[in-house]
Amino acid sequence: MTTQQAPAIQVRGLEKSYKELRVLRGVDLTVARGSIFALLGSNGAGKTTAVKILSTLLKADAGTARVNGFDVATQAADVRESISLTGQFAAVDEILTGRENLVLVARLRHVGNPGKVADDLLERFSLTDAGGRKASTYSGGMRRRLDIAMSLVGNPPVIFLDEPTTGLDPQARIEVWQAVRELAARGTTVLLTTQYLDEAEQLADRIAILHEGRIIVNGTLAELKRLLPPAKVEYVEKQPTLEDVFLTLVGADGRNGHDRNAGTDA
Ligand SMILES: Nc1ncnc2c1ncn2[C@@H]1O[C@H](COP(=O)(O)OP(=O)(O)O)[C@@H](O)[C@H]1O
Ligand SMILES: [Mg+2]
Repeated sequence: MTTQQAPAIQVRGLEKSYKELRVLRGVDLTVARGSIFALLGSNGAGKTTAVKILSTLLKADAGTARVNGFDVATQAADVRESISLTGQFAAVDEILTGRENLVLVARLRHVGNPGKVADDLLERFSLTDAGGRKASTYSGGMRRRLDIAMSLVGNPPVIFLDEPTTGLDPQARIEVWQAVRELAARGTTVLLTTQYLDEAEQLADRIAILHEGRIIVNGTLAELKRLLPPAKVEYVEKQPTLEDVFLTLVGADGRNGHDRNAGTDA
């Protein structure tokens, strides 16, 4: 299989423990090129651990993972050239202006014409007016958008967004969602992690729920909703929400998990 035809991300049997703590216990997932894939899980489920392995920051104990066709264990440099990672806490330098942050990243990545790259990204993320201001004056949503813009310098085909909206107010979350949709519309593959069901519901082409170290369900929103029969409430037929599906699978107490797979390729 050539790099171009391979799925953007392919993970098989991924395992990772921190001493006695078995965080990932055999994770399988496939992310199609150009799609938005949400890895949904509670706090501590192992989302960041999975993203760190996929972005070569951490070594798996077992299993394989390929990103953009490259093996994370044996072709780490190729993987790094194919991706960018935006963490839960923004990597923006507060002392610099938005534009200076972008130019700095463009220089570090040896991208031609850093000024133009910076201006184009400012425009794309509606930050042109704010570009000359120090990032310390930015709102949470602006900062996160700048962070995502910085991760796009050099046009990586795959981008990891680890909890991109955690800690943001509702308006800022909507702004970031718009930025993520924009990314996917241009063909970038997005793997985002989130603990917010509505975020997965809003953005993702496919949603996988990580629970007790495994993917317990993986499918489109429609497939996930079909796991539960619609509940009849008097004369109104109520479709289950993603929240209903999540709580049924994970258990309202967070401990009960069923093994199910709605998709053809988990
Ligand atoms: N470096 C580490 N050493 C020990 N335990 C860790 C380390 N990193 C994460 N953990 C633990 O592993 C579990 C999964 O963490 P993480 O991947 O950050 O989850 P999530 O991103 O889904 O919140 C948590 O219980 C966390 O405390
Ligand atoms: Mg995390």
